[in-house]
Amino acid sequence: MLKTLLLLVVLVSGSWGADYELLLEDPDIFAPCTEGPPGSVGFHDAFNIKDLVLNQDADIIHISENLTTIWDVQPTDRISARFALWHYNRGNWEPTLFSIATPDFCSAIFDENQSWFKQWTRYISNRDEVQEKCLTTRGTVWMHNPFDLKLRLNNIRGATLQGRYKAVVTFEAVDERDVPRKNTVCFEIRGEAEKIKN
Ligand SMILES: *[C@@H]1O[C@H](CO)[C@@H](O)[C@H](O)[C@H]1NC(C)=O
Ligand SMILES: *[C@@H]1O[C@H](CO)[C@@H](O)[C@H](O)[C@H]1NC(C)=O
Repeated sequence: MLKTLLLLVVLVSGSWGADYELLLEDPDIFAPCTEGPPGSVGFHDAFNIKDLVLNQDADIIHISENLTTIWDVQPTDRISARFALWHYNRGNWEPTLFSIATPDFCSAIFDENQSWFKQWTRYISNRDEVQEKCLTTRGTVWMHNPFDLKLRLNNIRGATLQGRYKAVVTFEAVDERDVPRKNTVCFEIRGEAEKIKN
């Protein structure tokens, strides 16, 4: 299995308060979904990252500058988002208890109580524009103040993480008549969980 030095820190605050890091498998970070919805498109069909600066230190990704949306949807669409963690067990991917779904991602993009705000959107510097255009207006630039990305999970019942995991992220656009569009964005971030010795 290909591993890179790129690590995400997964902090799990269960009953033992264990910390985990995830060694990413794919140097490109964002892999296509193995079982994406029919018609779905990948990360790079929705986001242009050529002006985004990504630098990895031992266990942290430093991020700054610009992400540009290029997803082919309409400004009036509603975006439904889902994040789910899967575990590889005996040759099969199985769902875990960790999942977040939101029917209106754009209205909650700067909600301080959401994990994506704590990890990511709080560092967006042009908030007014991103709040208005979100993912639905092609060419919108999301500007970032420099920050360090650590993927954090708050474990609910102190389960231990072991082996191979993947986070499956989907964004689905729903039109004004409440009909989902076919070109759902689906991508996976795969890696191996390792406990950090305290
Ligand atoms: C990001 O966007 C800002 C505003 O348009 C621009 O000044 C800056 O040069 C861009 N950064 C990169 C790396 O393209
Ligand atoms: C966030 O959570 C706190 C505490 O539960 C609550 O008082 C606050 O209204 C919430 N904020 C939003 C934007 O939902």
